[in-house]
Amino acid sequence: MIALGCDHGGYELMQEVKKHLEERGLEYRDFGCNGPESVDYPVYGKKVAQAVQSGECENGILICGTGIGISITANKFKGIRAALCTDCFTAEATRLHNNANILAMGGRVVGPGLALKIVDTFLDTPFSNDERHIRRINMIED
Ligand code: RB5
Repeated sequence: MIALGCDHGGYELMQEVKKHLEERGLEYRDFGCNGPESVDYPVYGKKVAQAVQSGECENGILICGTGIGISITANKFKGIRAALCTDCFTAEATRLHNNANILAMGGRVVGPGLALKIVDTFLDTPFSNDERHIRRINMIED
């Protein structure tokens, strides 16, 4: 189950992401927002971070205007590793190296074509399980 959250700056792109996940047959839980009206991104960043932190959802996708505010919010939660990605290289690397459990994107930064490729790369790349990466991830929590 993928947890989804966005603010008004990410609302439009999130509709594309949802359509794409449905086409791929992937299940998601949508934590809002529910329209293009102005809202506060921390509300949605927190909901998705808590859903992933509790294990209710395996991973998450967050979108605000830049992806910055909503990823900063999510990264306040212990065990959450939210990665702001603007390209497929970083989406792949953050799964391999950081075992990132939330993908953040900027709805005013990336277009839908690139964003959906970033989503696929993020969801389809497993963690490397390399000892050095496990060690470094553990150091984040210390
Ligand atoms: C909203 O205008 C904008 O500030 C928000 O979507 C995000 O970019 C914050 O980091």
